[in-house]
Amino acid sequence: MTKKRVLTGITTTGTPHLGNYVGAIRPAVAASEQSDVDAFLFLADYHALIKCQDPELVAQSSREIASTWLALGLNPEKAHFYRQSDIPEITELCWILTCNAAKGLMNRAHAYKSAVQSNEEAGEDPDFGVTMGLFSYPVLMAADILIFNAHEVPVGRDQIQHVEMARDIAQRFNHNFADVFTLPEAVVDDHVAVLQGLDGRKMSKSYNNTIPLFGTPKQLQKGINKIKTNLLEPGDPKNPDDSTVFQIWSAFASNEERERMRQAFAEGIAWGEAKKELFALVDSELAEARERYAELMANPRHVEEVLRAGAERLRPQSQELLARVRDAVGLRSYA
Ligand code: TRP
Repeated sequence: MTKKRVLTGITTTGTPHLGNYVGAIRPAVAASEQSDVDAFLFLADYHALIKCQDPELVAQSSREIASTWLALGLNPEKAHFYRQSDIPEITELCWILTCNAAKGLMNRAHAYKSAVQSNEEAGEDPDFGVTMGLFSYPVLMAADILIFNAHEVPVGRDQIQHVEMARDIAQRFNHNFADVFTLPEAVVDDHVAVLQGLDGRKMSKSYNNTIPLFGTPKQLQKGINKIKTNLLEPGDPKNPDDSTVFQIWSAFASNEERERMRQAFAEGIAWGEAKKELFALVDSELAEARERYAELMANPRHVEEVLRAGAERLRPQSQELLARVRDAVGLRSYA
């Protein structure tokens, strides 16, 4: 039986927060352990260049995010774990796909459209500050997916469109040249919690309401203390279902612990007390990983080796696929 190939990319910008952990990292690590799945998890460092042009930050974020995933239990023996930039066939394929992707399709990509819209609202030229990287971002993403003929691509809702574009691009190539590509499907897991941030909106770097994953325990405590609550006093019954404290609690708690806290809310637990318990719970889930993270950050050579080995193990596949693609479009040896 051939295994289902499940692939997803992690753009290497920013510092991972609790929302990334609950919404992306924890479920992806769990999925990569399934025996019927061939999991591909990669650091989309070429995508990072679209958002960030500070070389030190680019380098630092990539290393932090690689260490984060390993610290949280991603097993590089089970999942393919690699850097996009270590697989040159991805960017080669990207160019060939660029020559076949309709510009009109790219015009409709959300990221590009929203940049144009902000420019128009600000009275700027529509393409002000828009690089070709941003514009053709979905083609690179298509290359990421198609190079390993992924069947399924787990993503957040904001990325569904990009996976559909990859499917379109694959279909068009198969039709025009040769049946080379598997048509990928986006998979959105509705059971995965979307964590709320300090202000109660979705926890997100763009709202500046995040709690960092691997700060010190003190920083974690401080972050949790900043979660917005209401003015109810100790002893007043509180509604767990409109509380960010309870929402985050639920993302880390067992069923029993969740029910116990629900009861405590009904009985009027003080906000300070609830936050203290929340800190203890989150800290206990993260403490070991935090230590592993520190070790990995102190040992970049090890992380480098893991990623290089990951890419090396895969390149026979990407080379084989690219050879078929080159042949299909007519880039052939003369002899
Ligand atoms: N664009 C995705 C994001 O920002 C990351 C990504 C890059 C990706 N290449 C991918 C996701 C391929 C899935 C498949 O979240």
